[in-house]
Amino acid sequence: MEDGTADDYLESIATFKRHVHDSLTDHLFGLLRSMEGPRFGYQVDRYRHSLQSASRALRNGEDTEMVVAALLHDVGDMVAPANHSAVAADIIKPYVSDRTHWIIRHHGVFQGYYYFHHLGGDRDAREAFREHQWFDDCSAFCHEYDQNCFDPAYDDLPLEEFRPLAEEVFRRPSRFEMVVLA
Ligand SMILES: [Fe+2]
Ligand SMILES: [Fe+2]
Repeated sequence: MEDGTADDYLESIATFKRHVHDSLTDHLFGLLRSMEGPRFGYQVDRYRHSLQSASRALRNGEDTEMVVAALLHDVGDMVAPANHSAVAADIIKPYVSDRTHWIIRHHGVFQGYYYFHHLGGDRDAREAFREHQWFDDCSAFCHEYDQNCFDPAYDDLPLEEFRPLAEEVFRRPSRFEMVVLA
């Protein structure tokens, strides 16, 4: 790499990032589909849980990035079971607002309100964030788009319904882009 020129890097980084950018939705939808099947004791699998979360957000009039965030909030489960909130939040971070990122980043601990106490934990662990400006928003996300999204009778929208929304979000310029792509 030490012999590369500025032109070399501009070209290769732009080509690589354009490729990744264009295929991001496909990769993430593939991860979602990989969650189809096992239910781990819940009434629906993680795939349907994700569809149900996004469907409820969409039908509730949430903006595009929040619907996409709901769709992907557990996508880290398959690759980062110990820190799935952080992984999902970092995937969407370049393309969404700080508020949306914060909600997804913290949804795991806020979701604990519904079950941590059954496992010997503290259901009020989220109280550490009580004074945060988005505490109520994250609480509402978990209440409306997470803890209740295991209903086998719910009319989930199909994954492809969300493709245009996901593509709109992931085609936004990254907030952290060093190289501006044409
Ligand atoms: Fe989660
Ligand atoms: Fe979830």
